[in-house]
Amino acid sequence: MSCAHLSATEAGLDHAFTVDASRVTFGAGALAEVGARIRAHGARRVALFTDRRLRALSWFAEVDAALRAAGCDVAVFDEVAIEPTDAAIEQAARFAVDARCDGYVSLGGGSVIDTCKLANLLATHPAPLVEYVNAPIGRGAPVPGPLAPHLACPTTSGTGSEVTGIAIFDLLALHAKTGVASPRLRPSEAVIDPRCTSTLPAAVVAASGLDVLCHAIESFTARPFDRRARPAPWTARPMSQGANPWSDLGCREALRLAGAFLVRAVTDAADVEARTQLMWAATLAGIAFGNAGVHAPHAMAYAVAGRVRGFRPAGYPDDAPLVPHGFAVAVGAPAVFRRFAPSSPARHLEAAALLGADVRGAGPDDAGERLAAAVAGLMRAVGTPNGLTGVGYAAADVPALVEGAAPQRRLLDNAPVAVTEDTLHALFRDALSCW
Ligand SMILES: [Fe+2]
Repeated sequence: MSCAHLSATEAGLDHAFTVDASRVTFGAGALAEVGARIRAHGARRVALFTDRRLRALSWFAEVDAALRAAGCDVAVFDEVAIEPTDAAIEQAARFAVDARCDGYVSLGGGSVIDTCKLANLLATHPAPLVEYVNAPIGRGAPVPGPLAPHLACPTTSGTGSEVTGIAIFDLLALHAKTGVASPRLRPSEAVIDPRCTSTLPAAVVAASGLDVLCHAIESFTARPFDRRARPAPWTARPMSQGANPWSDLGCREALRLAGAFLVRAVTDAADVEARTQLMWAATLAGIAFGNAGVHAPHAMAYAVAGRVRGFRPAGYPDDAPLVPHGFAVAVGAPAVFRRFAPSSPARHLEAAALLGADVRGAGPDDAGERLAAAVAGLMRAVGTPNGLTGVGYAAADVPALVEGAAPQRRLLDNAPVAVTEDTLHALFRDALSCW
């Protein structure tokens, strides 16, 4: 920890950071523990959230069996949509109310876990969803009390949703992603079984792995916690509190692991070591960004995904156009790191080195380019679309993308430099292609 962190005495700036820890159970076979663990929280009537694809896989059967073996009644909701909308969240919440459950288990990717978090919220503390949505898009009302116990079992190595208090969805009226953020949304426990990633298509591993990469780099390069205004009251310190010594730990290891194992995990589904290590990287990066917050690439991604027109990625259901979250984040990332590196060149250079780039002889002026090149190199290696044009946008779309990203103040204010609409225009123009 630097002296600067310890002596944040400048008037009006924060002087401390808060560590919110998650209970994590990680290892091959961990799904067998789900029933006993939810029962230990006092739950007996359990809503099990998943999607149709997963319901047909053995992971679902294992969780369902573990719950029943522990004496739970199980009500299954398997209609979670990929990249859910507010309408889909409200449908899931109606299910939760009707099911009269006293505990929740989610088995799936970020969409499943986020839907489960919000269904739990709306069933436990009923209100229109927009009440809880981050301001200025929603009212930003605090979650009034604890939620029912929720065990999250991720099946993708990416979103980190199982260890964060953030839930994201597509607000149809605005054509943009937005979300709810509260420590009370954080699942009671994460049960992470890396075997689940063995059934993922390569494109899903690529997209979710790039999400991991960006969680780690953005948290690592976010505005430091002691450069943010002091919270009032102290208990109102945001989860997006900026880079801090706790989140740095997870970021560094997640970047090292992603640099070593991402390409292997994408190219060979039978590479158990690579897929397991990428799952661990996702866990560490999730804990890190849940305690630091991401910034501009994620703010831009919400517009990129929310305004999709015709892009249909391989490996995903093709019933609707979709830019997977990890690709939506990654296409903007090199442009952001290139422009923001002067704010903390040493960190940008260290991130590049952790990803495996040779940074010998590189100076502060090279930091942005080195990190952008390292990220773009991994993107190419795992078959990511090349920038905004690769996911169906053109220069004429930049104003609409800026309009979609500009309201994401929770994220933009966590960037290491001030982000105005002019900044966003420049970033989206730069992001039209990544190489
Ligand atoms: Fe993400």
